[in-house]
Amino acid sequence: MSLKNKKVILGVTGSVAAYKSAGLARRLTEAGASVHVIMTDASKNFITPLSLSIASQNKVYSGLFDDPISHITLTADADVMVIAPATANIIGKFANGIADDFLSTCFLSFRGRVVIAPAMNWRMYENPVFKRNLDSLLSYGIMQIGPDKGSLACGEEGAGRMAEVQDIIDAVISSVTEKDLNGRKILVTAGPTREYIDPVRFISNRSSGKMGFAIAKAAIRRGAEVILISGPSDLMPPPKAQFIRAETASGMREAVLRHYMDCDAVIMAAAVADFTPADMSSSKVEKSETMVLNLVKTPDILAEIGALKKRPFLVGFAAETGQDTSRARRKLIEKGADFIVFNNVASELSGFDVDTNEITIIERDKITPVPLMTKDAVADVILGRITELIT
Ligand code: PMT
Repeated sequence: MSLKNKKVILGVTGSVAAYKSAGLARRLTEAGASVHVIMTDASKNFITPLSLSIASQNKVYSGLFDDPISHITLTADADVMVIAPATANIIGKFANGIADDFLSTCFLSFRGRVVIAPAMNWRMYENPVFKRNLDSLLSYGIMQIGPDKGSLACGEEGAGRMAEVQDIIDAVISSVTEKDLNGRKILVTAGPTREYIDPVRFISNRSSGKMGFAIAKAAIRRGAEVILISGPSDLMPPPKAQFIRAETASGMREAVLRHYMDCDAVIMAAAVADFTPADMSSSKVEKSETMVLNLVKTPDILAEIGALKKRPFLVGFAAETGQDTSRARRKLIEKGADFIVFNNVASELSGFDVDTNEITIIERDKITPVPLMTKDAVADVILGRITELIT
């Protein structure tokens, strides 16, 4: 997942949120894009062209007549145009074909995907005249991200804050991503499970949910409908996923069995506990010098789906400490998966609670090592292989 070799035009308009555009420009550049900023005159009240030039590592455009044909040449080979922040004024101009400055003329000459991140006072945002302009613009296929609800620069509360920079970047990446999972439904499990000893104590593991959430996000970006079933995790679920919280292994099993039927693929990235206390005490267990726990095996959800005659495409994960893939291969056969993602969790940069991962895809007749990369990129590798194999 990156914006490598993508040309992004970033339009900045006159809202107080314009100060965040420098961070956005920098992050788009870090994601691999070449970023070309267009500022309206009003935006210069909030941020300087120099700041945006430094952040984007490029010249900043503004005047319509600085170079008479650049409103055509600048957009001709651009991949995506993002307007952040987008004021009520620029949305009104775009919606009505008004082209009286450099940004609005560029909008009319551009043929690619456009993302807008509105930012304004909540009463302006709810004004029916503005709403009509916004609806009209969206009817042309323009993508909207935000606004978020919260405290506004004017001191009032409401919907009008520009979307978070990360959410805008996700929308820009989504706008240039091929929708090769359009029409597909994918179930993803993520995170750890908790197996309770008593009402206040449990057995769990170090899974943060990062890998499973990255897969869910990537699948949505590629056009899939996604059900994300997660154990306890601090992460925010992707807004477009159907999100189901499961706490224990048996709760996760129930949720998976309730939802897998009409899915095209099930990807089990969750670190489901292998054992659970044989009996959970209904009250807090008294402290003592030693404690013996009687554990029983949890139901193996992956194996249960794998044994079904009619089932979706099935992907399991195998967390192993070391490079030896033989146990993962055994899991592939025993659990009846279509492939297993072997995860070496011994390395500090791979596995539990880090943003990167080093995996090997293990199929019955093929082994594909994948170098260390971000979990977002790993998610795309896994989904890429699924799209190749799914019928
Ligand atoms: O969440 P992160 O911090 O990002 O970390 C990612 C991860 C390391 C948790 C993830 O990438 C990973 O490796 N997940 C699988 C961990 C695991 O439980 O491996 P396992 O070898 O014990 O299980 C093999 C497979 O069987 C897994 O797909 C697991 O979901 C499934 N399983 C296991 C036990 C059980 N009772 N039911 C199951 O379905």
